[in-house]
Amino acid sequence: MKLSATRLKELAAQHGTPLFIIDHDIIRRNYRLFKKHLPAVQAYYAVKANSNPEIVRTLFDEGASFDVASYNEFMQVYTYLRHFNPKEKNFYIWDKIIFSNTIKDHQTLAKIKKYRPLMTFDNADEVRKIAQYCDTAGLVLRLKVPDIGSQIEMSSKFGAEPADALALIRQAFDSGLVVEGLSFHVGSQCTNFENYSTALQLTAEIFNEARRQGYPLKIVDIGGGFPVPYDSDSPRFEKLAHIIAAECKRLFPADTELIAEPGRFIVATAAVLVSEIIGKARREGKLFYHINDGVYHTFSGVVYDHWIPNFRALRKGKEEVCAVVGPTCDSFDKITTAESLPGNLRIGDLLVTANIGAYSIASSTKFNGFDGARILHLNTL
Ligand SMILES: Cc1ncc(COP(=O)(O)O)c(C=O)c1O
Repeated sequence: MKLSATRLKELAAQHGTPLFIIDHDIIRRNYRLFKKHLPAVQAYYAVKANSNPEIVRTLFDEGASFDVASYNEFMQVYTYLRHFNPKEKNFYIWDKIIFSNTIKDHQTLAKIKKYRPLMTFDNADEVRKIAQYCDTAGLVLRLKVPDIGSQIEMSSKFGAEPADALALIRQAFDSGLVVEGLSFHVGSQCTNFENYSTALQLTAEIFNEARRQGYPLKIVDIGGGFPVPYDSDSPRFEKLAHIIAAECKRLFPADTELIAEPGRFIVATAAVLVSEIIGKARREGKLFYHINDGVYHTFSGVVYDHWIPNFRALRKGKEEVCAVVGPTCDSFDKITTAESLPGNLRIGDLLVTANIGAYSIASSTKFNGFDGARILHLNTL
């Protein structure tokens, strides 16, 4: 986001700090970039990346679909469908929402049964649970695929072994359910594009064999993981999109419905955080800047998302390696101990963190009584 230092200072003075600024033009730009390079793939924004209602609205207005993980996220999206007539609503639920958490408690299944939702699963017990509590669902079998080198791995917790896939599909159909397709997730911030080509190859073998056996699969869901240009070394999305488009064309029949669940890619670059230095101390020779946001709040991604934070000071000075730490009384609340910053920053000076839109406020807590950042929306329509 290109906001000048003067503008950032003005906004901080006007709204206070910490200030989480979301630029909706960038959200729209990222979504359109995704669609431009993968026109055959319907994008289901992964609400978990940032569930802020204004973001969901902007993407809904852009025509996005949504990947949800809980009843509350489901209802957050469903709100926008309420005014449709029943026929349209049925069509839109299918087209707009996928419940992509492979394990759902039976209370949630019972509550969403009336919406005939599309949902993922990856094991035999889940098939039994869905058959009992939500037999209106359309199923998507999530496969375990390589996630080598991704910032966040997925395969240790999710995905059926490919060798078990056909038996699970058979079990679902035998239980009276319908398997609509297959899905995978190569891990978040996937910079190793081999993961996608291997996953697509593996998915195609199962998809085509299932069809040969008479199971009419339609959907291939390529998940999330699309990399964000956090730094100049990050591989380009355009290159990945080219690989995916070519591989999908080569591997799947022309009538396959391709969908994806991008989260980080849509929102990461759309937000910037302005925090304020509230204390300064030298500890064992190292300069510590204490700021009014931390790992229990907007920087929660440092813990949950293995995110490497970035800081820029709005005052110039001779740089040294500093620690930047949060406001809570917990010594764990250290955002970084290795950031190069001017040594002459003062209490009241501002720090700016770019590309903090994904997995940040989504997992922020109220620990120690701190409220977390105010949210400012720019360029909403
Ligand atoms: C099932 C599923 N789909 C999509 C996503 C979004 O992934 P990303 O933010 O890497 O695009 C996640 C992230 O955890 C996920 O668990």
